[in-house]
Amino acid sequence: MGEIEILQGDITQAKVDAIVNAANPQMLGGGGVDGAIHTAAGPDLLAACKKIKAINGIRCPFGEARITPAGNLRAKFVIHTAGPIYRQKKDPASILKASYRDCLRLAIENHCESIAFPAISCGVYGYPLDSASEISIGVCLETEFSALKISHYLFSTELRDLWLSAYQNAL
Ligand code: AR6
Repeated sequence: MGEIEILQGDITQAKVDAIVNAANPQMLGGGGVDGAIHTAAGPDLLAACKKIKAINGIRCPFGEARITPAGNLRAKFVIHTAGPIYRQKKDPASILKASYRDCLRLAIENHCESIAFPAISCGVYGYPLDSASEISIGVCLETEFSALKISHYLFSTELRDLWLSAYQNAL
């Protein structure tokens, strides 16, 4: 049975095999957690992102994920995903679920034992926090991913408490 850990903190400090980045489809950096991860990882991360195949500038369509080495981070990999922009998408819940699933599948394919998630789409992408917490926990509890140790790094105590109650409600 996999392990799920929920904590408040800075995801760039996570001691895990793969750190998930809440990126955008271009994958060339940005603000929020994306900016923090690129700053902590150093320029090698941006160089690795630029090597990912782009179609019309899009490296990672919404709801998908891409993996790169992690530069100066303690992790082996960064898994970049573009979650939904809540107000622009018809079915944001399906896209958010797909983002989490694609990250977890990439982690398994790349022999990771542990992975850390931020609250994907919960910043400038505007996803309602309580439904995002239910989706995040729900996908992470799917049996397909039960071999992984999954950590959720939430940036505020409010978010951490939402994730904790989503976890308790799902058990
Ligand atoms: N560690 C953990 N969580 C963090 C950190 C950190 N160091 N920094 C911020 N957060 P956001 P999105 C939280 O806006 O909504 C970027 O510009 C933050 O408080 O980073 O998916 C990208 O390039 C919030 O709870 O990501 C995209 O363009 C959560 O991380 C766009 O923003 C996600 O907020 C993606 O938007």
